[in-house]
Order: sequence, then structure tokens, then C-alpha cells
Amino acid sequence: MTYACRIDDVPLGEGRVVTLDGQRIAVFRAAGGWYALDAACPHMGGPLADGIVCDRAVICPLHDRRYDLQTGEPLGAGDPVAVHAVEVRGDQVFVRVSTREAVAA
Ligand code: FES
Repeated sequence: MTYACRIDDVPLGEGRVVTLDGQRIAVFRAAGGWYALDAACPHMGGPLADGIVCDRAVICPLHDRRYDLQTGEPLGAGDPVAVHAVEVRGDQVFVRVSTREAVAA
């Protein structure tokens, strides 16, 4: 787990981009908890951290594709986005960045 940000850095219902292990990760604070996805939308690289968080999904601001925040699966057409484990310790947020190899294993 790598330190990502403080909980106060991400308002409820929003996302923020952090760079961890050389990867840009979007950290989301949803009503149901904290989530982390690759920051770039798998469609055309849209900034998922700027998307609208709705229940347990985020809507890409470029072309409105939706992704499940927990699984990264598209809610509709398209490819999934990589998800990363998140843990909140006190007022700090930690992320375990999934490598492509680890996801495939
Ligand atoms: S770039 Fe995200 S939906 Fe097109």
C-alpha cells in the first residue's frame, strides 16, 4: 500500500488524480466508500477523476461511458478500467497499485 492523499483532499462525490508508482490513479470518495481506478478512461483517455460520481459508478466527462467503481467494469459498452485496492487509515488514504501482470494473474 502506498500513501495517496489525505481524506480531506477529496470532497465527497468527487475524484482526484494522484501519481503512484509512475501510474496516474484516480481516487474517488463515494457515499459508499473509497475507490481507485486508472485515471485515463479506456475509451479515449478521458479524465475519469473529473467525472460525475453516481452511486457506485463514475461517468466519464468526455463521452459519458460509465464504469463500476468497485470492479472497473463498463456499465454498457466498452472495455473495463483497471481498479486498485484502497484502504483508509485514520485521515490518510492508501492505494495498492495493481500492475497489469498482477491483474492478469
Ligand atoms: S474518453 Fe471516456 S467515454 Fe470517451
